[in-house]
Amino acid sequence: MCYAIPGRVKEILEKTVLVDYFGEERKAHNEIDGLTVGDYIYAQGGYVIEKIPAPEAEEILAVWKETFFELQEVDLRLSRLDLETKGIGAETVRILDRAMEGKPPAKEELLQLLRSEDPTHLDLVFKTANFLRQKYLKNACCVHGILEISNHCKQGCHYCGISLHHKALPRYRMTQEEILAAVQEAVKRYGFKALVLQSGEDPGHSVEELEEIIRTIGREFPALIFISFGEIGIDNLKRLYDAGARGFLMRFETSNPELYAKLHPGQTLATRLEHLRKAYEMGYLIITGGLVGLPGQTLEDIVNDIYLARELHAEMFSFGPFLPSPGTPLAGFKPVNESEMLKVIAGARLVEPTEARVLITTAFETLSKEARRKGLLAGGNSVMLNVTPRQYREKYALYPDRAGKSELIQTQIDETIALLGSLGRSPTDLGAK
Ligand code: 5AD
Repeated sequence: MCYAIPGRVKEILEKTVLVDYFGEERKAHNEIDGLTVGDYIYAQGGYVIEKIPAPEAEEILAVWKETFFELQEVDLRLSRLDLETKGIGAETVRILDRAMEGKPPAKEELLQLLRSEDPTHLDLVFKTANFLRQKYLKNACCVHGILEISNHCKQGCHYCGISLHHKALPRYRMTQEEILAAVQEAVKRYGFKALVLQSGEDPGHSVEELEEIIRTIGREFPALIFISFGEIGIDNLKRLYDAGARGFLMRFETSNPELYAKLHPGQTLATRLEHLRKAYEMGYLIITGGLVGLPGQTLEDIVNDIYLARELHAEMFSFGPFLPSPGTPLAGFKPVNESEMLKVIAGARLVEPTEARVLITTAFETLSKEARRKGLLAGGNSVMLNVTPRQYREKYALYPDRAGKSELIQTQIDETIALLGSLGRSPTDLGAK
């Protein structure tokens, strides 16, 4: 997982290949030497990551062929939209109508859409987002793995359970061997094609060590690697890109500079954004977003966050609820409710209908048992599973009772496949259009 299905190379134009999936065509960037038309490949996030032998690919495709179209039909049925506009304001109908034609709402319009608490109105907003997801991106659902390699952190973010504030937390740092073994398990045994390596801002893993880990993964375990080690410096971002990392996951947390400064002692929003902008210029795929429901945050702030993520070229929007974490300055505050999170997921889809993956985050899954199902029906098309060795997962305590914190990888996969199946989604990433 992303259990990408094999595709067949149809055309090659320099570094861009056209890949066929049961008649659907997607483009992917190729860095593999000697690829020819007719070869079977796995692509991920718009990159070719592995060439696979034809007999193996044909066997997998034979199994997929039936379900591929069945799932698409279920999805189509579930995302059909009868614009039931009784009791809905004319202005809302106008904004949603335009959105359905692929014209994203302006900031003020999105604010207006999301300000409502009326369930009928919100239901229509969520359904419109789901309609757009189906229309432009079909039923592919991206399933990345996340491996948390260290919970040491030198920062004091006010909400974060692995920050300096949480003195009682036992700390761990996986060794290079442990990291490679976990990557091997995720890629070879469980079939993940895209992995996020994440940690706190931990000087204990040197950039040389990280480079070596990423190079080794590139040689031995074909997968698209996202790094998520916080603000490691622009030069180090470049070094890890050159070592083979192709994705950068870092939230800007909030687009409101004053709120940012309050919650992140010694850090500035400007430095964080510079990392994200430079990473994009280097060629990284960007996953970013913010926290929803921070004390002092307004709906205007959240709408600005969605637009900022778009401006930063987020290929995946990652928004999660703030959840109060023991031992931190914000331990006594309350989180938002489920519907506020669904608004953000739908909002992200409305402003970026055609390209983006919108993630149903683990924090949202922790907030609500129904997060995945409802989020996937409100514009979401992406989930992450935790592939951190179980003895460490509990210690990666960003907030309490994290969803999936003790489940076997296989159990997480089985549950995900079952849910996706019921919604007509394929656990695939067919890459860029
Ligand atoms: N609640 C929700 N999300 C949190 N994060 C950190 N602490 C919390 C919390 N208490 C998120 C931040 C960070 C990501 C790794 O985890 O957004 O970027």
